[in-house]
Amino acid sequence: MERPGVGECFEPGKVWLDVAGAPIQAHGGGILYDCGTYYWFGENKDGETKFVANEVHRVDVVGISCYSSRDLLHWKHEGVVLPANMDDPAHDLHVSKVAERPKVIYNAATRQYVMWLHVDTYKYEYARAGVAVSDAPTGPYRYLGSSRPNDAESRDMTVFQDDDGSAYLIYSSERHSTLHISRLTPDYLGQSGQFIRAFVTRPLNGREAPAVFMHDGHYFMVSSGCTGWDANPAEYAMARSMLGEWQVLGDPCCGPDHETTFHAQSTFVLPMPGRPGCFIFMADRWQKENLRDSRYVWLPLRMSGSHATIAWHDRWDCSVFA
Ligand code: DGJ
Repeated sequence: MERPGVGECFEPGKVWLDVAGAPIQAHGGGILYDCGTYYWFGENKDGETKFVANEVHRVDVVGISCYSSRDLLHWKHEGVVLPANMDDPAHDLHVSKVAERPKVIYNAATRQYVMWLHVDTYKYEYARAGVAVSDAPTGPYRYLGSSRPNDAESRDMTVFQDDDGSAYLIYSSERHSTLHISRLTPDYLGQSGQFIRAFVTRPLNGREAPAVFMHDGHYFMVSSGCTGWDANPAEYAMARSMLGEWQVLGDPCCGPDHETTFHAQSTFVLPMPGRPGCFIFMADRWQKENLRDSRYVWLPLRMSGSHATIAWHDRWDCSVFA
């Protein structure tokens, strides 16, 4: 039997238990660092996987889980902070739908924690971005509704908060043929109207699973190709400003299995406080036949100038950044 990760070091691809001994349910997630604590938000997929059709495997929506940690290794489950709606089939968060890739940022002016997530019907035809707010990082989050940002489809998404307090919603759009980067309003609850269409490609040959970070005054984005739950090569790109021109730089992963992002898909890049050029690359190793057993692949990401490197480690801890 596989030995579950006990939290003394990162073991990419192994079962990762929370401090109560239960497997962590925070897929497609992202991290908020707030007052010395890390909060990990992600999809709780703790249900039976149903095969729908055409490669669609799904779990009824449980909701968005939050975990907290001070060392990134030991995680306490703070609960399902945005639960599924059980009664109203028309509700965005009804169990029969899709709620994916939640990301939370803090708005210092409104003193609210703002969560954006991808909400969809099980056939992924609704393609909208939902937003929820809370007075505390651990919720509960109040769902405000969803929209098609800038009147465009929104599927895989992330948010990025810049040093100057501006924030952006980055979403896969136009049938996956572009990623839009849209500046949010100052309260982070809507679109400002300023947006770009980046990575314009042939239809169905675009990017998804975006993860944005900043290094040395430049903006970087890791993303995946579009192959459903199956892994494909990651790619990263750089820009001088979020709404500027994005230059594709190639695959940041190296070594065996780099061509499948180590059998995983990007979801977030976490900067290491006080360690310039050092980041944790967070990815999901989806198990489409049993989505609740999907694993986490966290690996060190190092920047040297504009060159990003992600290498496989069986076991590692943050001393690799020393
Ligand atoms: C790929 C996306 O990145 C995932 O978040 C999920 O939406 C799957 N597609 C569904 O097939």
